[in-house]
Amino acid sequence: MEQSIESYIKNLVRDVIGQNLGGLELQCDRQTYVIANWKMNKDLNETAEFFQKINSSHDVSVVICPPTQLLYPTQLFIKQSGKPIGLGGQNVHWADKGAYTGETSGSMLTDVGSEYVIIGHSERRQYSFEDDELVNKKVQQALKSGLTPIICIGETLGQKSAMQTEQVLSKQIIGALKDIDTAHFILAYEPVWAIGTGQSATAELAQETHAYIRSILRQLMGQKAEGISILYGGSANERNAAEYSAMPDIDGVLVGGASLNAHVFDVIINAFAKGEQNS
Ligand code: 13P
Repeated sequence: MEQSIESYIKNLVRDVIGQNLGGLELQCDRQTYVIANWKMNKDLNETAEFFQKINSSHDVSVVICPPTQLLYPTQLFIKQSGKPIGLGGQNVHWADKGAYTGETSGSMLTDVGSEYVIIGHSERRQYSFEDDELVNKKVQQALKSGLTPIICIGETLGQKSAMQTEQVLSKQIIGALKDIDTAHFILAYEPVWAIGTGQSATAELAQETHAYIRSILRQLMGQKAEGISILYGGSANERNAAEYSAMPDIDGVLVGGASLNAHVFDVIINAFAKGEQNS
């Protein structure tokens, strides 16, 4: 399987920068992200309308992950808007290309302007039976394609009640990052019990869990762990965003339902933009 020259160079630069700046990352602010996961929502008209209304911000990295059929038009809407917004896919196949009906490859995502891809979302783990091994193969393919993986992890309500959260998260992290030697990824902690339920994790609980996640990353990659953005997801909205943004280990949010309305999403973006300015 051959890597394109472009993605080879991108990965090389990343790894060299990651290594050389490793010691500096302790003093650097981590990048803050506000990422929209539109899931299976919106049509072309609704997408056009969203980009007429969204304001965005230069102070945080804003990324929209629309359904696959809207990736290309979304790229055009972003260009037309002139706003600093990135584009991401919601899934990627592990193979370069081939007879995989209904799937989308990494190069197909980059071809239409994607720079990011969500991998291992709990809805895909649940409905498409994705396990840690498959998540790892997809992370490898995303990196090879020059995409930044947004790796989702999180425990179910049953696992939380059985006090297995740390065990579940460490297994998911170690599984997803097997043989990955770059720090060029984003981690999203999305407790399954908080997704789409309105029962968001308190900012204190999310902070505590993010600190645990970072401690696992430290064990895996040393001080590079300080530079990895860990996002919270699960009923994040315009009312709780400011609380999350105030937490030292919460480096942004991955937003489902509340990202569908441009005005609501702008409030969330602004909460993190203010957090950035204050930090
Ligand atoms: P909600 O914000 O709708 O709970 O969804 C979160 C999510 O799954 C983002 O990936």
